[in-house]
Amino acid sequence: MFAAELVLGFHWICCQAVRWNLTRYSPLPHLLSQRFTHEEELPAVDVFVCTADPVIEPPTLVVNTVLSVMSYNYPTRKLAVYLSDDGCSELTFYALHQASQFAKHWIPFCKRRNIEPRSPDAYFDKPTARPSGQEWESMKCFYVKKLYEEMKSRIETMAEKGSVPPETRSQHKGFLQWGRHNNVTKRNHQSIVEIVIDGREEDAVDEDGDRLPTLVYVAREKRPQFHHNFKAGAMNALIRASSEMSNGAVILNLDCDMFSNDPDAIRDALCFFLDEQSGHRIAFVQHPQQYFNVTKNDLYGNSPLQTDKVELAGMGGYGAALYIGTGCFHRREALCGNKYSSKVDGQGSIN
Ligand SMILES: *[C@@H]1O[C@H](CO)[C@@H](O)[C@H](O)[C@H]1NC(C)=O
Ligand SMILES: *[C@@H]1O[C@H](CO)[C@@H](O)[C@H](O)[C@H]1NC(C)=O
Ligand SMILES: *[C@@H]1O[C@H](CO)[C@@H](O)[C@H](O)[C@H]1NC(C)=O
Repeated sequence: MFAAELVLGFHWICCQAVRWNLTRYSPLPHLLSQRFTHEEELPAVDVFVCTADPVIEPPTLVVNTVLSVMSYNYPTRKLAVYLSDDGCSELTFYALHQASQFAKHWIPFCKRRNIEPRSPDAYFDKPTARPSGQEWESMKCFYVKKLYEEMKSRIETMAEKGSVPPETRSQHKGFLQWGRHNNVTKRNHQSIVEIVIDGREEDAVDEDGDRLPTLVYVAREKRPQFHHNFKAGAMNALIRASSEMSNGAVILNLDCDMFSNDPDAIRDALCFFLDEQSGHRIAFVQHPQQYFNVTKNDLYGNSPLQTDKVELAGMGGYGAALYIGTGCFHRREALCGNKYSSKVDGQGSIN
């Protein structure tokens, strides 16, 4: 093993040395706020969260990711979150519906206190994230924590049962899609698109009266005779579905087990897209992936530090980046071309 480490280490250093051109870029979000003083001028952003199986990726985990992106520091009218469920499970839909209720308390709670991270599970679990003393003691914090725990236990009870009882089905018309006559199974079902929160509606507001972001559940049609192409197929379906609804000029794609730990991530990415000199040449902005709750000293090397800190940074000089499949902001025009967005007045384009 030691000899192998030495040989591969030597090989890696030799290869890396000739192509390593270290250039670091940093966003300057205060300049963005100076340039766009009106929120209306900022581009619309669509967030795609992909999940594939309600057992391997429990609905609680999925809704934590969804809540972390719904509470971004970004004008909520300009934000739409799409959850793609390739498992086509009513449990995931139930969890999303529950999360849409909890978001009415969670989003104002996050924004008023400016807390981090904005995934409720990570926030309430992490000892350092808890505000000390009086604030933590305050009723509000306990109240939101209690609401979260109640929601979590409802979702987990439902997941244990394996199906949603008839009395719960009446809460949202979307449950009709899983009705007996539709024969929904994981590999064979019709397409299901349900708008859980419609951000354009007057009554889509949180407890403070502020508008909520749009939240949509999507399960693309699947038939056994057609190959579904896994996550790539889901992303294609999301691009088409979202272009009919919010048609945001910027798209963030995120795996369901990766919450967003920075509430300003959108503004940071926009600093690159909207750069006056070179912004038009940037197709995507990849955020690094960080790992949460690894062992002390990262004993098993779970977080790919060498990739993030050495290899990716070393590509900067060539104006290149590596797409790692999650945590990436895309320019919609770079994926779809301009002709699809020409009909939409101004919204589909960010320049
Ligand atoms: C559901 O399955 C039943 C029995 O297999 C069949 O008669 C019915 O047409 C199916 N419905 C749909 C919408 O495919
Ligand atoms: C962190 O890891 C430990 C041990 O693997 C586990 O017991 C614990 O539940 C994890 N905590 C979170 C918040 O994931
Ligand atoms: C290295 O990066 C700089 C920009 O930071 C660039 O001007 C230069 O051409 C790059 N070198 C090579 C060999 O590409």
